[in-house]
Amino acid sequence: MTAPRLGPAPSALADRLPAPPAAWAYMVRCADGSLYSGWTNDLARRLHAHKTGRGGAKYTHGHGAVKLAYAERCADRSAALRREAALKKLDKAAKEALAAAWQRDHAVTLRPAALSDAPAVNALYGWYVTHSTATFQYKVPTLEEQRASMAAAMAAAPFLVAQDASGRLCGYACAHPWHTREAYAWDAELTIYCDPDCVGQGVGAKLYGALIPALREQGYCNAVALVAHPNPESEAFHRAMGFRKVGTEPRTGYKFGTWLDLQYWWLDLRPGNDAPAPVRLPGRPQE
Ligand SMILES: CC(C)(COP(=O)(O)OP(=O)(O)OC[C@H]1O[C@@H](n2cnc3c(N)ncnc32)[C@H](O)[C@@H]1OP(=O)(O)O)[C@@H](O)C(=O)NCCC(=O)NCCS
Repeated sequence: MTAPRLGPAPSALADRLPAPPAAWAYMVRCADGSLYSGWTNDLARRLHAHKTGRGGAKYTHGHGAVKLAYAERCADRSAALRREAALKKLDKAAKEALAAAWQRDHAVTLRPAALSDAPAVNALYGWYVTHSTATFQYKVPTLEEQRASMAAAMAAAPFLVAQDASGRLCGYACAHPWHTREAYAWDAELTIYCDPDCVGQGVGAKLYGALIPALREQGYCNAVALVAHPNPESEAFHRAMGFRKVGTEPRTGYKFGTWLDLQYWWLDLRPGNDAPAPVRLPGRPQE
């Protein structure tokens, strides 16, 4: 008798690779032009607290809307605290010089991806495969698999990458056909990942800000994002980008020793009941 074929073994908590503890020294610019220095172990959350006034510093509450002006990843909490103290001691001119240099180096630009971006895209995505439940994938794709996946996405819609002044990949966004049957041809499933060091800094909004109008222009009528729950950052992000939660598949994925729900976040690209024109598909992907 032949033994039954088995599917993947469930991924245990121990399979999750430990992420190095984050520690940042940073400056934010307030609406009145002043610079506030601080430290944090969660830059995205801290920035959001400064922006919303919920849990941010007293100083930034009193000085209007804030924008990240400088960020430096430190080895650990005590290094970040020391760096914060040093930043606070700098005079205005020295702070402005640091902020200007940081702004120049971290200016994020978008461009269409080429298949030669596959190694960088795979390294970024692979981080989430091994550290996070944001993706239900257990194993980092091979380069060939990543190239094939990118080519499939590029055949459906623009595949956009965000990079900084040094060319480092800060994030990417793309779209795949939601289902293969013909009647689904106007529905695009979106994918977006930002480098863990770049989250909460406007990269995602920039990527969706370009991808969504492009999908609309191509003739897609609906965009859907599949968000593993819990992922409060992605939920808040999709809500802020105009998506609404339309459903949840309960307990549908198992990763790192936990059952996870899957939420469907929906954006009507072309509301109305008129018959749609065929979607215009891009040409062959660039090498
Ligand atoms: C989800 C993700 C793509 C969002 O991109 P991002 O660059 O971090 O988001 P942005 O800085 O552009 O935020 C845009 C808006 O989303 C909301 N938002 C983003 N992160 C948030 C957070 N941590 N808390 C609350 N609101 C948040 C805010 O309204 C924000 O606008 P504001 O900065 O003016 O307040 C990014 O965080 C990411 O890559 N996360 C890990 C991978 C992942 O979960 N991908 C999605 C899989 S479905």
